[in-house]
Amino acid sequence: MDVFEAVRTILAIRSYQDKPVPEEVVRRIVEAGRLTASSMNLQPWHFIVVEDRDTLRQLGSLARTGPYIAQAALAIVVAIEKTRFAVSDASRAIQSMLLTAWSEGVGSNWVGFVGQLETVKPVLDIPAELEILAILPFGYPARAVGWGKKNRKLLSEVASREKYGQPF
Ligand SMILES: Cc1cc2nc3c(=O)[nH]c(=O)nc-3n(C[C@H](O)[C@H](O)[C@H](O)COP(=O)(O)O)c2cc1C
Repeated sequence: MDVFEAVRTILAIRSYQDKPVPEEVVRRIVEAGRLTASSMNLQPWHFIVVEDRDTLRQLGSLARTGPYIAQAALAIVVAIEKTRFAVSDASRAIQSMLLTAWSEGVGSNWVGFVGQLETVKPVLDIPAELEILAILPFGYPARAVGWGKKNRKLLSEVASREKYGQPF
């Protein structure tokens, strides 16, 4: 799948087949995060791969906006340093991981945000100096997804040419 095709078709996937994701695909997803660029190349992130079912259930019960994490084949918890560019840097790493997974047929979604997931830290022994930006559940989609059908604003609403407000 080329990059634009992945961007065009990726959707938030919130229900998953009961089927494991092969180890080489998991590794490739995490590698995509590791290889992402960051401000001053500081790489202010840590990715915790969770496959243990009991832990996934715990994450699902703690993440108010993502109970479906409990059913995922795995989840990656994205912890970040409390530094200025960490949210931007790690958001970019998250997008790398989501697109890499999608290109392998694996669906995912972004769950939570900074400040919302503090109760997850003790479950995973995450040190106090880090905070959690997101939990990313991964799995093969339970249902066929509407490939490329997206509810988005029109290009004319979100883009201009040369100056703000001039038609694109
Ligand atoms: C920063 C961010 C935070 C999000 N948080 C959640 C969340 O906590 N729970 C959830 O189910 N979806 C979450 N989403 C997914 C969005 O709701 C979803 O991508 C959006 O509604 C568009 O859906 P679509 O890509 O399937 O068209 C989040 C997405 C982003 C980018």
